[in-house]
Amino acid sequence: MILSADTHEQIRKEISYFPQARGALLGALHLALRERGRFDRETFAEIGQFFGMRSGEVAEVASFYSLFNQPRARAIFQVCTNLPCCLRGARAIVRDLERRLGIKAGTATSDGRFAIQEVECLGSCATAPVVQVNLNPYLENVTTDYLATILDTPEKALSARRPGPMISTVPPGVNGYLLPPDGEKWLTLEDYKRNGGYQAIVKASQMSPKEIVALVRDSGLRGRGGAGFVTGMKWSFMPPPDGGPRYLAVNADESEPGTFKDRQIMERNPHLFLEGIMISSMAIEASAAFIYIRGEYVEAYELVRKAIEECYEAGILGERALGFNRRFDIHIQRGAGAYICGEESGMLESMEGKKGQPRKRPPFPATRGLWNRPTTVDNCETVSHVPSIILNGADWFKAEGAKNSSGHALFGVSGHVKRPGIFELRLGVSLRDLIYKYAGGLEEGRTVKAVIPGGISMPVIRGDQIDVAVDHESLRSVNSLLGTAGAIVMDDRTCIVRVALVAARFFDHESCGQCTQCREGTGWIYHTLRRIEAGEGVARDLEVLADCCNFMDGKCICALADGASWSARAFLTQFRDDFEAHIAAGKCPFPESFEV
Ligand SMILES: Cc1cc2nc3c(=O)[nH]c(=O)nc-3n(C[C@H](O)[C@H](O)[C@H](O)COP(=O)(O)O)c2cc1C
Ligand code: SF4
Ligand code: FES
Repeated sequence: MILSADTHEQIRKEISYFPQARGALLGALHLALRERGRFDRETFAEIGQFFGMRSGEVAEVASFYSLFNQPRARAIFQVCTNLPCCLRGARAIVRDLERRLGIKAGTATSDGRFAIQEVECLGSCATAPVVQVNLNPYLENVTTDYLATILDTPEKALSARRPGPMISTVPPGVNGYLLPPDGEKWLTLEDYKRNGGYQAIVKASQMSPKEIVALVRDSGLRGRGGAGFVTGMKWSFMPPPDGGPRYLAVNADESEPGTFKDRQIMERNPHLFLEGIMISSMAIEASAAFIYIRGEYVEAYELVRKAIEECYEAGILGERALGFNRRFDIHIQRGAGAYICGEESGMLESMEGKKGQPRKRPPFPATRGLWNRPTTVDNCETVSHVPSIILNGADWFKAEGAKNSSGHALFGVSGHVKRPGIFELRLGVSLRDLIYKYAGGLEEGRTVKAVIPGGISMPVIRGDQIDVAVDHESLRSVNSLLGTAGAIVMDDRTCIVRVALVAARFFDHESCGQCTQCREGTGWIYHTLRRIEAGEGVARDLEVLADCCNFMDGKCICALADGASWSARAFLTQFRDDFEAHIAAGKCPFPESFEV
């Protein structure tokens, strides 16, 4: 036996949470990694015994996930090199680590003590640059001087702590209902109850499921996971109960670069999140809820896990769950470093212990979701709005936001601003206010060149378009979309070809490879941009880029391909001059731009 008796026991416990054992496979891989620090054939074989899988089958699943495929070393420095981190100096961090350790990123020192790995967005873009050593809490606002102090021994690196501070706030004059005021954290059941927690569920328990669905639909709540679908409407797609199980699958994968809002809810108000899950589950008459939290969010995972434990101890969850009058359970699953597992059907696959490759639809999750049973997928922030809607009503929620975009949102601002952070504000706030009033504006003398308003998949807009309201309808008027409401701001020194290149590298890396258009298209866009950025582009490359976008749009199984093409097309149309200047000069004409 390679794994300890304790790990075996924990795997068995994990398995007991799921209708089919394999739901615990990723959890088992996490447990094995924590104990062994690496995988080998024997470990895969031992894990496979729990699930009736051969070693090769377990290895195949594990191979899909970045966190299970790291270089082998005692301390792995995972440096985020996605856009918000690059804008704030991530490349210098990688270079410095490479120099000090004498290795290239993606490799380990020959003594197996250290490794460097470039990783995609870690969901902490306001405290960029961000580094994670193994699966420890993030090192935030990292400097090369700081890293030099923790490189003596792997043990020192593993015990290093450098949190934020992350600005995560309800600005003065705003009556927040998602984040606690004044930087507080309401982590315990007592904190939450003292501030009015678990009253909404009592009120909801006096309503029928249909009444809850109608109220939330009338409130105009739209999903905060990126697509903006009307939540109450989605809930109404669930078929009538047939006596069998039905599920709420809660999406806390939060891997869209520029997006770090769900983490704020989980780390500052985890019981609000749980109350939202419970009421949403009442509405769709779910027998259980499963939360999928991205693997890198170790603190959020621990805090939500503790909050769930408290609920079981207090009888809020379990046999006669509060408001349900029957058994109701919530369990957590952890992702393992794959952006595509945030796509709802990729997430369901991953929750079932498979590679997170999106499913063809139909059938949609409402008819055949988790383990082939009716399932609704809701985002973490989305469900967290529900308690306030129950307590205050649909009209109140509508009045809190803009037309067709009800309620507050947790707006993220990252990149070239003085106070990057999360701000709880009404939908419909002006982008200019978001940047200048709340996020402190840009450095002296700098102007806004470009903004990606809602996570990296959303089309970029120009600096002269920031007098737009940040809501679903208004952003469409400037050919963009709200997405996850995470704005990435770039100043006038920024090279847009480099920005497009970082975005394209991300999509190329994260494409799951099932669809030819996406697999090939993301690769072509990335390699073409790479050539242009290196000064080797030719005029025809711009046509190739446009062709690739047309080749991918709306033709694939999931919307990753759409995001990749929207992103590239918008850079090209909004900033064509930057591309042409590169090709004409045979080099980057923006000497002060960030490095990729
Ligand atoms: C490539 C891709 C990645 C996604 N990542 C996330 C994510 O990390 N979190 C999330 O809530 N939704 C994500 N989504 C959207 C989900 O597919 C889905 O629309 C959402 O979870 C539904 O919840 P909502 O209606 O509450 O927004 C992603 C979509 C795509 C295409
Ligand atoms: S569009 Fe891309 S990410 Fe989505 S299923 Fe197809 S290959 Fe995978
Ligand atoms: S944490 Fe680095 S880009 Fe988001």
